[in-house]
Amino acid sequence: MEKKATIIAVTGKGGVGKTSIAAIIVKVLRDMKPQARILAIDADPAVGLSTALGIEVPKTIDDIRKSFIDKAEAGETRQAIELLNDAQYEILEALVEADGFNFIAVGRPEAAGCYCKVNGYLKDIISILSEKFDYVMIDGEAGVEQVNRRVMEQVSHLLLVSDPSKKGRQVIQSIKQVADHLVMYDKVGAVINRVREDSPIELLDTGDIPVLAYIEEDKNLNRFDIEGKSVFELPKDSPIELGVKKALKEFRILQEESR
Ligand SMILES: Nc1ncnc2c1ncn2[C@@H]1O[C@H](COP(=O)(O)OP(=O)(O)OP(=O)(O)O)[C@@H](O)[C@H]1O
Ligand SMILES: [Mg+2]
Repeated sequence: MEKKATIIAVTGKGGVGKTSIAAIIVKVLRDMKPQARILAIDADPAVGLSTALGIEVPKTIDDIRKSFIDKAEAGETRQAIELLNDAQYEILEALVEADGFNFIAVGRPEAAGCYCKVNGYLKDIISILSEKFDYVMIDGEAGVEQVNRRVMEQVSHLLLVSDPSKKGRQVIQSIKQVADHLVMYDKVGAVINRVREDSPIELLDTGDIPVLAYIEEDKNLNRFDIEGKSVFELPKDSPIELGVKKALKEFRILQEESR
């Protein structure tokens, strides 16, 4: 029997470091598992993972869909509709081959406010592509919506990211509660990002979610943001990379002895 893909989804409150952590997961998997087929999915309509991974503005699934709608309006209705019904086609068109991994962005829909359509694609993408990859890393939208809409149903490892704030920790606990009903995960865990030396770790309660790693404020990241550099240029001993490795070991995705 074919081995099932490890599907990691990163989610949590807005602005807590989900995309940075997701990008580092891709970096670490690429470095530590050179034989593995790795796919990174930017599932946040606000996009951002491509920049963190140093990928030039790729076509999103939504762009491809829109171009078909334009074609249909120009008269090629029949052909466009046939293609529109073929999720495989859109996915292959949007798949970007990067150095050591593949990348796909779902994109943002025309009308602001409702991401339901995009979330519909996302579910298709995950199920179609997870057969072709060993590791699928999903940078999710902030909040509970994608879990709620069963988009994340097939995720095997649910990584909940929070900053030390009470609000951030409440958000991951509500996501976990919904996920317990709707996601068939094998493992769930939290990463508490941007802790400071004086942060009272013992007060950072996450309810029934085990904390896999605490990640310190990382000065490298601030500078990288300003310069627009990708995570591949980050030093291997940067706090965020060490934290991500620790989390992946706790998840048993990396071996305990790997450094
Ligand atoms: N450990 C850290 N140390 C310093 N800066 C960090 C750290 N983690 C994240 N950041 C910075 O915080 C900002 C937000 O991070 P990021 O974009 O990864 O968050 P996000 O959760 O994906 O946000 P959004 O909800 O908007 O998608 C970025 O400028 C990033 O560089
Ligand atoms: Mg993000």
